[in-house]
Amino acid sequence: MPLWDVSHFAQVFYGIPFKQGDRILTGVHEYAANYIAFLQVARRTGVRIEVIPEDADNDVDIAALEDSIVRGDRKPALLAFTHIPTNSGRVYSAEAIGAVAKCHGIPFLLDACQSIGQMPLDVQKIGCDWLSGTSRKYLRGPRGVGFLYASDEAVRRFEPGTLDMYGAKWTAESEYVMLPDAKRYEQYEKCFAAVVGLGAAVQYANELGLDWIWDRVQSLAATLRAQLSEVPGVQVHDKGKVLCGIVSFTKDGIAPGQIKAALLERGINVNTSLKSSTRMDFMKNGLPDEGVVRASVHYYNTEEEISAVVQAVLSIF
Ligand SMILES: Cc1ncc(COP(=O)(O)O)c(C=O)c1O
Repeated sequence: MPLWDVSHFAQVFYGIPFKQGDRILTGVHEYAANYIAFLQVARRTGVRIEVIPEDADNDVDIAALEDSIVRGDRKPALLAFTHIPTNSGRVYSAEAIGAVAKCHGIPFLLDACQSIGQMPLDVQKIGCDWLSGTSRKYLRGPRGVGFLYASDEAVRRFEPGTLDMYGAKWTAESEYVMLPDAKRYEQYEKCFAAVVGLGAAVQYANELGLDWIWDRVQSLAATLRAQLSEVPGVQVHDKGKVLCGIVSFTKDGIAPGQIKAALLERGINVNTSLKSSTRMDFMKNGLPDEGVVRASVHYYNTEEEISAVVQAVLSIF
């Protein structure tokens, strides 16, 4: 179901009827847009945000999650987790979170914006109630469009944050009826060209095969991490049992922005991830205040390109 950009996460989140004292459990690497929404609702209604720590492998600590659920003074109103953060290659165990959510009957919202398109995702196996994704990252689709999965139960139990004449029909002067399925989360107006582009991107990824894409992305990223680690002064920051195509690193004495600019001069596109996007992760995992460089490899990259990136990082300053 297509929606604008990140708004589908908010469409779900703002539709949950939180009350004072309700608990939202989330992760260390939660994305700023999501966390700001939690904070806004916390200010308005007095919900409590609880950040579940990570285990020794930088995965969400499932025992701590269980513990927080059973020890809390009330059942959490929501588990909201980001699958892969914007700033690091780690992949949280979404299926393990889903199993806990199911066991305790707690709604589970998964932000899969960074995972969709680089790895196979099965909402049934994950056991989430909602999964939000974007077009513009590993799916390689146009900007400004994304999609949402909502389970039948989630559709039955919750309303979207905003409704318009697409998601609901005005049936009498003071009545409306929502569409019976997840289409109720959609809005009337959308960028149709972007929606078509997203459809083409999904088809393209499926034709290549998500299993093949995932193997290739992981293998190229592992090569890049291994080679970058050999460069004097470089620290690779990705830690985790399962690592994805996002490779994050810094080089001593050179700001991430300078590295990005220097690589761009050599025809290499990387980005930087700043503390303001994943504040908790930077604070709790001791990441450098000035941010990290984020090099995202995809299946179309070659081993020669990986070597070129490493040579370029070696030669900077
Ligand atoms: C974890 C996560 N969620 C959501 C988004 C937002 O994506 P978009 O603006 O394309 O919806 C990002 C972007 O970096 C992200 O990293």
